[in-house]
Amino acid sequence: MNHFLDITQLSATQITALIERALYFKQTETNFPNYSPHSVATLFYETSTRTRVSFELAAKKLSMPVIDLNSYTSSHVKGETVEDTIKTLMAMGVDVFVLRHHEESLPATLALKMENQGHIINAGDGRNAHPSQAMLDMMTIGEVKPDFKHLKISIVGNIRHSRVANSMQHICAALGVAKLALVAPEIWQPQTCYFGEVTTSLQEGLADADVVICLRIQNERLHTHEFTDLPTYQQNYAITAKTLSYAKPDVMIMHPGPINRNIEIDSEIADGKQSFIWRQVTNGVYMRMAILEALVAP
Ligand code: CP
Repeated sequence: MNHFLDITQLSATQITALIERALYFKQTETNFPNYSPHSVATLFYETSTRTRVSFELAAKKLSMPVIDLNSYTSSHVKGETVEDTIKTLMAMGVDVFVLRHHEESLPATLALKMENQGHIINAGDGRNAHPSQAMLDMMTIGEVKPDFKHLKISIVGNIRHSRVANSMQHICAALGVAKLALVAPEIWQPQTCYFGEVTTSLQEGLADADVVICLRIQNERLHTHEFTDLPTYQQNYAITAKTLSYAKPDVMIMHPGPINRNIEIDSEIADGKQSFIWRQVTNGVYMRMAILEALVAP
């Protein structure tokens, strides 16, 4: 694997192998392989806590030097293009670039220009894809409910603007998840559905769900006509103790974060016994170790 851009580039075998490797890293916790000849730059042109820090920790656990380039203080402010920034860092010996950018498909476009000289990891490109999030989500689900072929996953909320929802659809299709429900008010339903069934009904979408993935309301991506009345949204779509009664009693509650507490999900649910939100964050480090290794290992 030369770049990590989209779930669609991976076969089910590759996805499973990466998840198994991440689980191995999680179980061993010490004596990780040493990839110190490779350096990683984290280039985040959109905000991030989880993805940026977990890639940095993952690289450090693999003994890879990390350069965190802050787009507010780098030469990006003087007009340098992302391509020129990457070329500059490559000239200094950096060979892995973890890129988050609002422009959809920019990581793939830049990867095409790299001529096998470096590796690009898509850490989220606009509304398009967030493949490492989907990988760590399936790792987390698989730890508890490994029989994907008999699983119902429900994704609830602002699906139209969610790169997480896109990548989840692709990974569920690749791994043969039995049912995927995409639950949203009409204004936030996906413009393109890759896998699963779309519904406006939370009751129908959550019925017998094994896993509920609650999405953040992404105010920063909404156009004026895409805002909805928040109290009405909460009444119909918020994840609460009452709405979770539609799902299976042992339903896993997940959220990619950051959480809007008591908006799309009640705090008591986010912090409750069935919440795997913090496990997702923990697993993110090991999953990203597996992704980095797959790019640089000889
Ligand atoms: N889930 C996720 O991408 O979180 P961050 O924006 O904090 O990286």
